[in-house]
Amino acid sequence: MTDAHAASRGVGVVVVAAGSGSRLGADVPKAFVRLAGRPLVAHALEAVAGTGGVASVVVVVPVELLDPSGPHWSGVSLPPSATVVAGGADRTASVAAGLAALGPGCDVVLVHDAARCLTPVAVFERVVAAVRAGADGVVPGVAVVDTVKVVDTDGFVTATPERESLRAVQTPQGFRPEVLRAAHAGGVVATDDAGLVEALGHRVLVVEGDPLALKVTTPADLALAERLLAGGPTPSGGHL
Ligand code: CTP
Ligand code: MG
Repeated sequence: MTDAHAASRGVGVVVVAAGSGSRLGADVPKAFVRLAGRPLVAHALEAVAGTGGVASVVVVVPVELLDPSGPHWSGVSLPPSATVVAGGADRTASVAAGLAALGPGCDVVLVHDAARCLTPVAVFERVVAAVRAGADGVVPGVAVVDTVKVVDTDGFVTATPERESLRAVQTPQGFRPEVLRAAHAGGVVATDDAGLVEALGHRVLVVEGDPLALKVTTPADLALAERLLAGGPTPSGGHL
């Protein structure tokens, strides 16, 4: 490896926080809803800041919240390397906007949902390590506890996948930057980035996720996250 290549070793992180949070139904976009007094995105950024080797961070937010000096941002510590950009109409468009703002020079790019605000640093580190070990794409996942049915539009079951083979996947999802950029160049929309990368024929590895990487989606999830923060470990691994 040349010195030029060695210098380009670093982790770029895109934190997507531009969703409206329609299922949560709060009066501010979900990533700016407060959990233990700070916006969800502040908690997510705490874990990003605790992750080794992060060279640049892009935070993708609703266009009306672009100004980090605004009141909704109080309690958020933006890393010095962070850039804030406006998101798009769906998650895929928001990731693409974040990727466009992420400079060159990283060997790993992570995409993380601000809504997974309690994801432990250890999950970030596992994903980075697995990309550096050679995977094109890496997602954290946990075993599924329910039996999952595939249904048709009338609700009739068309298949019952074997539960043993199923994983519920989380974020951060990690990629070699050129792989993720190529995946987003296709203009396809998907609910996660790995789906786009898989569609290009790349192999995506599932590493161990964590129950704390739950996605805050409904008011019940927010209440659960409050309880976890009150009594459980923080994203950086310590205790409150
Ligand atoms: N997201 C985004 N841009 C969008 C939609 C979603 O950046 N246009 C982000 C959200 O802010 C969130 C993550 O993608 O951190 C996962 O999306 P989801 O949990 O679905 O959040 P929302 O779209 O905000 O919620 P809902 O679907 O209930 O409206
Ligand atoms: Mg959504």
